[in-house]
Amino acid sequence: MLLCSSAGGGFNLLSPANTANSTRLSSHFVHRNPVSSFSFSFRSSSLHLSENFKSNRDRRWYPIVASSTPVIESTQSSFRTKNPKDINVLVVGSTGYIGNFVVKELVNRGFNVIAIAREKSGIRGRNSKEQTSNELKGANICFSDVTRLDALEKSLRDLDIPIDVVVSCLASRTGGIKDSWKIDYEATKNSLVAGRNRGASHFVLLSAICVQKPLLEFQRAKLKFEAELKEEAGKEDSGFSYSIVRPTAFFKSLGGQVELVKDGKPYVMFGDGKLCSCKPISEQDLASFIADCVLSEDKINQVLPIGGPGNALTPLEQGEILFRLLGKEPNFLKVPIGIMDFAIGILDFLAKFFPAMEDAAEYGKIGRYYAAESMLILDPETGEYSAEKTPSYGNDTLEDFFERVLREGMAGQELGEQTIF
Ligand SMILES: NC(=O)c1ccc[n+]([C@@H]2O[C@H](COP(=O)([O-])OP(=O)(O)OC[C@H]3O[C@@H](n4cnc5c(N)ncnc54)[C@H](OP(=O)(O)O)[C@@H]3O)[C@@H](O)[C@H]2O)c1
Repeated sequence: MLLCSSAGGGFNLLSPANTANSTRLSSHFVHRNPVSSFSFSFRSSSLHLSENFKSNRDRRWYPIVASSTPVIESTQSSFRTKNPKDINVLVVGSTGYIGNFVVKELVNRGFNVIAIAREKSGIRGRNSKEQTSNELKGANICFSDVTRLDALEKSLRDLDIPIDVVVSCLASRTGGIKDSWKIDYEATKNSLVAGRNRGASHFVLLSAICVQKPLLEFQRAKLKFEAELKEEAGKEDSGFSYSIVRPTAFFKSLGGQVELVKDGKPYVMFGDGKLCSCKPISEQDLASFIADCVLSEDKINQVLPIGGPGNALTPLEQGEILFRLLGKEPNFLKVPIGIMDFAIGILDFLAKFFPAMEDAAEYGKIGRYYAAESMLILDPETGEYSAEKTPSYGNDTLEDFFERVLREGMAGQELGEQTIF
């Protein structure tokens, strides 16, 4: 069991093994997993996020400055020499499509996992605390608010354990402009600051391969955080390292047409269906790769693009796989990409007069980006994407995934709130 302060101020006693017995307490403090005896000392200054958001368009950045928050400083040479059960891994974004699998993978590998979650989690906040606790069995669940540094720091202080590693699977659920900066940058930064102040010496970041060619706001937000993460690791005597994981396309982003095609609809693709390609990776394979990043020395201070097994696939090839599995004659609907440009042009124009339309224009750009840009390594000199240079990992193929969706449907593969990614 683990006692954790909620963002709302109360204390929640949660047993991962028996979440039905969740009880509100006020003063006891019980740990489910014995936390390693960890010698630490206090520093007088700490890493602190200091910036002022007036609005998205008027953003003023301030450097990281010292705060008076006491800082836990590890005196151990490396958490990597410890037994996994004695390594405390903080996971933020634990309730997402990937985060959920990452928590399970880390628990299966024997780490002591502290999963930060919202009291209402999942798409449109549909999961209660009990459902979240059931989903993340085996982890110590801490209900808190990653968007507020003070709340997150208080939650971790109340846990009263040091953190060795932070794993962030946080992402904006909408891809909207403000939300991307709030989550992909600010909240992720909060988890770095709070984790560092509890002694974390390694940070594993789930990013995206598409940040190589940043045309979208969420990509810029991610890149800004990546840069600050590297800066933190580059400080002299920081004793801090990172692994930045940049995956290609997820299965959920490619499965949206399976049931439609099964029902006799055509497979829709842009241009000739060869405008882009990717090496799709499953949630389980990606979670396994991310878990490797906790201990693997060869992943220290690395940016790690990663795809799934097999060849890169264009939308045309994905459609062909699907028709073959269904035993149907291919039936493609080819849509000119110019249609998207036209729609984005109108939305951009409207957004100039109606700021509320900014996000709609951004969603159009996200859709356009995924329709035309490959999720593969980009050669910055030639501007060409390379399937050969994009590493592969894992066992799950898109074909197996399509077969499963044809049999069982898309449960668990729902897209985010704007049904874009
Ligand atoms: N889709 C693709 O093909 C693809 C490919 C490569 C990379 N990626 C990248 O992979 C990343 C993760 O994707 P995913 O699909 O796993 O994300 P996801 O399912 O949308 O999960 C997002 C996580 O962030 C949390 N979060 C979002 N807004 C929050 C808020 N306001 N306060 C607290 N927590 C919040 C969510 O918590 P709640 O459950 O409480 O909402 C959830 O745990 C993204 O950065 C994406 O760019 C995606």
